[in-house]
Amino acid sequence: MRTQVAIIGSGPSGLLLGQLLTNAGIDNIIIDRASKDHILSRVRAGVLEEGMVGLLDRTGAGERMHREGLPHEGVSLAFDGRTKRIDLFGLTGKRVMVYGQTEVTRDLMDKREASGALSIFEAGDVVLHDFDGDQPHITYKKNGTTHRIDCALIAGCDGYHGVSRRSVPKAAIQTFEKVYPFGWLGILTDVPPISHELIYANHPRGFALCSMRSSTRSRYYIQCSLDECIDEWSDDRFYDELRRRLPAEQAEPLVCGPSFEKSIAPLRSFVAEPMRFGSLFLVGDAAHIVPPTGAKGLNLAASDVHYLFEGLQEFFGEKSRSGIDAYSERALKRVWKAERFSWSMTMMLHRFPDTDAFSRKVQEAELDYLVQSRAASTALAENYVGLPY
Ligand code: FAD
Ligand code: DHB
Repeated sequence: MRTQVAIIGSGPSGLLLGQLLTNAGIDNIIIDRASKDHILSRVRAGVLEEGMVGLLDRTGAGERMHREGLPHEGVSLAFDGRTKRIDLFGLTGKRVMVYGQTEVTRDLMDKREASGALSIFEAGDVVLHDFDGDQPHITYKKNGTTHRIDCALIAGCDGYHGVSRRSVPKAAIQTFEKVYPFGWLGILTDVPPISHELIYANHPRGFALCSMRSSTRSRYYIQCSLDECIDEWSDDRFYDELRRRLPAEQAEPLVCGPSFEKSIAPLRSFVAEPMRFGSLFLVGDAAHIVPPTGAKGLNLAASDVHYLFEGLQEFFGEKSRSGIDAYSERALKRVWKAERFSWSMTMMLHRFPDTDAFSRKVQEAELDYLVQSRAASTALAENYVGLPY
């Protein structure tokens, strides 16, 4: 088989890029090692920046998001027994859209199917060949046969554990990493959320987040230790802990429904530089990870796709390499700002096991300053709704 762009990974990055390319008449094939059902069973991000909303609209897959998604104009920070709302819209003129990553993925998969573009699922042993030159190719195994795809360029959209970044010689890549000493225990439940906007809570017992997927589906998280055993977390225990970490006025309306998804996610900051190696471009989680506190993971994948798509259009349309040559530098500038924001939100809102009294006082002062100063609230709001691209 031959295509212009071979895309490894059918997550949000691969699907977004694939659809933009298809709409622009640039041929592409998506290869994923997982099944379609498995990909659609993953519960991940929930908050979309306007940039991501705009990209989804450009693909033509945004219709359901506008119908079912919830535009939010503010978020609340809870600490010290009180709740303070950050007026995102008032401070920045921008909103965020609450719409789950699972639904984004489903909408993009449906659009791709309707466009007739090829996706190969359950592809084993995906290997990238000759991407240091101009004629790369990919091999994979399916149903006992090895297949080959020749292409002009490869987009590595295969997430943190994917094969693309690992295929790059160690000497050609530099990585930066910070691992946090706790995780997030999250549940999904079909009960109305306790508040119509998100609440991020800092409490002596640990961080908590009240989010949602719709007006009848809630997504709750609590900070937990990394060695926590999920089987020891009954729904009752989860809700008791969540309630204790919220101010009384928020805890009171909490409706406890049975969870239908419960999982623990570790928290990590990670960046690989550069994001381009010859004919291979890393996109989204394949190149960088943020702790989820700033709701930036999926949104960063979207800005990478934007920069790469612009470069690919120039490359295939105008036969110019300037866009793809600038990709890594342009993307990384935005990546590091989101890394900084996600790290600072994580440091400000969590309880660290080894925090001394001085650091705790500084954290309290930071929260107090943030909600009292319009300048500080604006800085948070500007980052939360997403820096421009
Ligand atoms: P992915 O979604 O990881 O997609 C990569 C795809 O590549 C997958 O379909 C995978 O099957 C495929 N693949 C992997 N290896 C191979 C291979 N060798 N060959 C072929 N295909 C391969 N972000 C937030 O903003 N808020 C959150 O609450 C949040 N929660 C998260 C919870 C978890 C457990 C995780 C892992 C991430 C979370 N994120 C969150 C981050 C967000 O979901 C990611 O940033 C987003 O999924 C990135 O999209 P992606 O397409 O780059 O990668
Ligand atoms: C969700 C996850 C986040 O990490 C976040 O910051 C906000 C919302 C969510 O899953 O809804």
